[in-house]
Amino acid sequence: MTATVVLGLAWGDEGKGRVCDALAADAGYVGRYSGGNNAGHTVRVGDEEFKVHLIPSGIVREGVICTIGNGVVVNPQVLEQEVEALEKRGVEVRSRLKVDGRAHLILPYHIRLDSHREKALGKAKIGTTNRGIGPAYEDKVSRVGIRVQDIFDEGILRTKLKAALREKNAIFEGIYGEEPFEVEELASYLLSFRDLLSPMVDDTGARLRRALDRGEQVLLEGAQATLLDNDHGTYPFVTSSNPSIGGACVGAGIPPRYLDRIVGVTKAYTTRVGDGPFPTELFDETGDRIREAGNEYGTTTGRPRRVGWLDLLAIKFSARLNGITHLAITLLDVLSAVEEVKICVGYEVEGRSTDEFPMSQTDLHHARPVYKTLPGWQEDITGCRMRGDLPEAAQEFVGFVEAEVGVPLCMISVGPEREQAIVEKIGA
Ligand code: IMP
Repeated sequence: MTATVVLGLAWGDEGKGRVCDALAADAGYVGRYSGGNNAGHTVRVGDEEFKVHLIPSGIVREGVICTIGNGVVVNPQVLEQEVEALEKRGVEVRSRLKVDGRAHLILPYHIRLDSHREKALGKAKIGTTNRGIGPAYEDKVSRVGIRVQDIFDEGILRTKLKAALREKNAIFEGIYGEEPFEVEELASYLLSFRDLLSPMVDDTGARLRRALDRGEQVLLEGAQATLLDNDHGTYPFVTSSNPSIGGACVGAGIPPRYLDRIVGVTKAYTTRVGDGPFPTELFDETGDRIREAGNEYGTTTGRPRRVGWLDLLAIKFSARLNGITHLAITLLDVLSAVEEVKICVGYEVEGRSTDEFPMSQTDLHHARPVYKTLPGWQEDITGCRMRGDLPEAAQEFVGFVEAEVGVPLCMISVGPEREQAIVEKIGA
């Protein structure tokens, strides 16, 4: 009875897919619990690179059953494209992918609303991925969402679409001067996914609970990350779901007592896409060097990511909030590109010093980082497979972060290939 959750400690793109892939070797089940196709996981197997946005990255492991939980928002068109793209490359998906019947659907009007909202915000925009994520979750909470199971009851589907469109069409026509959406057109669009979805629809929570009761290993793959959490993140510059640990229980339908291992993932530095505060952001040549060495361009949108030093205040806040049991550090090799390495160990906020990640949005916007500087290592570490293989300066870096966060490291990635990692024992 072991469920492991892998979640991000900062603003996403920490390389969770990579960590999941390493841990999925022992798992029979890999599930997503929140977000939608705003996520992007890249997994490399040999010369092949797989990019997935909605389907759990565990799908590239033969025999693993993958679940898209009730807490995920599903764009059926994207699901279809991903299934087809993976199957074209020889990955069997349909027999191994289960989608919860309670998961909400992302519809074309959500995507259109997302882009209108961002335009209306002007300079205060969130910088969303424009995938309709926020509006789909809004509908879920407002109880006018359309769920996967609704596709299988045409009468209900039309009634729900009518209710969902009542206010939205008034907005499209009245505010944006656009054509309204038609119930019939949307109904036939959704019905066209019946054949794809019908073998996949499932009570994924019940499936995972049964597997856990049989003693099988379940891995829950976080999307986005803790500082993008709608409750605990840097609101309003957040996503519309709960990527942090509570969201894992709700969005996968697994009670907390099953969660034995919670792996928090951080890069050896920090990145952020979209807008919002980022105290350790670099605007100089060092930032450019890290961006290039780490290929820091979004998997989903292709946007250049904002880059900065590792922020221990943020990481420790997230580690405590999620109660992580293990830490994974990714992309350590990228820091080989710089002469010296900085770690943020405090903030100066309006003349005050603090070592706590501030709750106040105003304080976070005014926070100036206080750094500890460590020597760099400037050598190729991609061949290291044990911590002792790392140059002394790199050992000092990971040892310092591990001691500060206060939980053992279970993985350090030192290169993009599957085997380019130092994997430490995570326990039985
Ligand atoms: P949304 O999730 O598309 O509504 O975007 C809200 C915020 O979350 C924006 O700042 C996005 O850039 C950010 N975001 C959403 N998904 C990801 C992700 O997978 N990685 C990093 N940032 C993300």
